[in-house]
Amino acid sequence: MMLFKPYKLGAFTMRNRLVMAPMTTYSSNPDFTVSEEEIAYFKRRSSHLGMVITAATAVSAQAQAFPLQVSLKDDSFVASQQALAKAIQEEGALAVVQLHHGGRMNVPSLHADPNNIVSASAIKAEREGVATPRALSEEEVEQVIDDFVSALKRAIAAGYDGAELHGANTYLLQQFFSPHSNRRTDRFGGSLDKRMTFAKTLIERSVNAIKEAGRPFLLGYRFSPEELETPGITLEDTQAFVAMLKTQALDYVHISLGRYNQSSIRESSDKRKIVDVIQAELKHAIPLIGVGGIHTKESAEDALAHGYELVATGMSIIADPDWALKIETGKALNTVIGPKLLLPTPLYQRLLNNKPWFERNGYTFEV
Ligand SMILES: Cc1cc2nc3c(=O)[nH]c(=O)nc-3n(C[C@H](O)[C@H](O)[C@H](O)COP(=O)(O)O)c2cc1C
Repeated sequence: MMLFKPYKLGAFTMRNRLVMAPMTTYSSNPDFTVSEEEIAYFKRRSSHLGMVITAATAVSAQAQAFPLQVSLKDDSFVASQQALAKAIQEEGALAVVQLHHGGRMNVPSLHADPNNIVSASAIKAEREGVATPRALSEEEVEQVIDDFVSALKRAIAAGYDGAELHGANTYLLQQFFSPHSNRRTDRFGGSLDKRMTFAKTLIERSVNAIKEAGRPFLLGYRFSPEELETPGITLEDTQAFVAMLKTQALDYVHISLGRYNQSSIRESSDKRKIVDVIQAELKHAIPLIGVGGIHTKESAEDALAHGYELVATGMSIIADPDWALKIETGKALNTVIGPKLLLPTPLYQRLLNNKPWFERNGYTFEV
């Protein structure tokens, strides 16, 4: 069974192909360092996985999207992130930090200075509770790229095995690629090609920073293949984006989907599976992580059969810290979410406030 065999990723070997999907915990200390509760939560879930991707981590004060979001915004955060990376690695999993900037999706109340809500262009997201962002100047875009690269260097200093650039789920990197949020006419926008300039420049600078560090360090890129808005990212746009990613020195790419085997959310008549559309371009040149509804051994195996090299799981590892061990040994999985699962308190509270999201996926809550 390929799922549980070691897998070579860059200079590293994962003990199996199972990955913990990046999940925000909303549970940092008040100063945005990693809390003891978070360390215990990740450590408890790391013992049988090949790789753990941590919560979206803010690359600067301006990047902060959520309350109590962990940060790598300056050197003072290296020590607390080091403790997290070490806790994951001690359990035998690779530790990868997800680097993030919320852009126009930042919760406005977290930013006393409304100037901190920025994006590619001054276009508000089609969502409740968000602010109209300020368009970054060209110089500021360079600064944001620098912020990502500086955070990546801190991740290297903290001992992580890699970093994932969070280009998915409507956040800033996606906002630069999206024709909805990017109406620029400089070198960062104006055509499909130019909307890729931000991601391409960031990846290239990240690769250089890793080379300079002189030790093995993985670089991954996560993206969402479509947007519902008009204009919005289409599968055709994404094929071009994947063609660009394919030319980069990335160790993996990661598509963020609600269902690993789904087809288009924009065009119901387009029955192609999104993974097939991606692999038609990527041709397995870079390992691809699949995610979304991979909650059982059957779905994990089916995901590999669909052409993913690695499979990530989110909700199921929240609900069952021993998920990987249990699917390997054929034991029944826990699907009841409760206080004994070593969930950080604010995360548990969030889940309780968002019960339907988990209930739709077959999870229940202890009363
Ligand atoms: C509580 C929670 C927090 C999440 N936070 C992030 C995040 O920080 N970064 C990210 O890229 N995706 C995030 N996601 C999305 C997951 O990585 C994953 O793509 C999604 O949950 C689908 O996989 P699943 O069906 O296995 O849960 C989050 C999901 C959940 C449930």
